[in-house]
Amino acid sequence: MVAAVTKQIEQFVQELGDERSYELFTKVPSGKMLRTKLILQIAKTPEAVRLAAIVEMIHAASLLHDDVIDEATKRRGVDSINAIFGNKSAIMLGDILYSKAFYELTKFSSQIAQTISHAVALLSLGELKDVELSNSFNSNEESYFDMIYKKTASLIEASAKSAAILAGLDSEAYGLYGKNLGLAFQIVDDILDITQNEQTLGKPALADFAEGKTTLPYIYLYQSLGEDDRQKLLYLFKKELNPEQKAWLFDKFEETGAIQRAKEQARALGHEALEQLHKSDEKLRQIMEELIERTY
Ligand code: IPE
Ligand code: IPE
Ligand code: MG
Ligand code: MG
Ligand code: MG
Repeated sequence: MVAAVTKQIEQFVQELGDERSYELFTKVPSGKMLRTKLILQIAKTPEAVRLAAIVEMIHAASLLHDDVIDEATKRRGVDSINAIFGNKSAIMLGDILYSKAFYELTKFSSQIAQTISHAVALLSLGELKDVELSNSFNSNEESYFDMIYKKTASLIEASAKSAAILAGLDSEAYGLYGKNLGLAFQIVDDILDITQNEQTLGKPALADFAEGKTTLPYIYLYQSLGEDDRQKLLYLFKKELNPEQKAWLFDKFEETGAIQRAKEQARALGHEALEQLHKSDEKLRQIMEELIERTY
């Protein structure tokens, strides 16, 4: 079924009848297909394959733009489109994928079309907030959660909700499941940026803090430090760290258990996600576990 989604995406891009954009698109490898797995687990109809293809195209478009915003040169283990072809091509390929996805979305019920397109508006608002929060050290947990809800959880929430609508299930309950799962997912992404290397991640490691992103582990770290260490952390904010500074940072993470605390928050959200479902679904529990315990 996942293979059917990959094929559908290819067909959608081919339908645009433009060789150059198709060629650019072939340089985007597929990712973990988490949103597809979620949708196909909830709804097992032919429309679910098209819905998953639309969501993956939206997701890929958001990553094309995200790598321009974050000036990231690696994505999914290979050079990013912006790194190879430049920002202009990456932005336009993103727009092409977004537009085709919206065109295909009009063939769904207005409830589904509105659910997904509203999530994309939130995603963009979230990316904007992410950029603006990175202007200075953000120690406010509430702003962090609002931003990750918008940039990441909203599309996962909309995917679960829309799949539930297709399957005639309780869309509110599945939406909440997706929302909590999505929050946990971004927290884990933010943890992996600190704990993993570039080779495992397929994208640069320890990039967030250098870019000004005070993600949850950094917020927890800040909360646990004394005044002198807080000043040192603030000094390191948005800088390329030398090995000694990196070692200091890792020591402090270790000492305070800040990463562990963020991981527990992700786990708690994952379990809260499952509690939204009326009856237990082993596969959806597995998707949640895999997502939280993942290493890339
Ligand atoms: C990356 O998403 C961006 C975030 C929302 C954290 P994924 O980790 O799902 O990316 P791929 O699709 O597997 O590459
Ligand atoms: C998530 O943010 C990106 C989107 C929701 C578009 P990140 O900037 O953390 O994603 P990665 O780490 O580059 O995959
Ligand atoms: Mg990024
Ligand atoms: Mg980003
Ligand atoms: Mg990240």
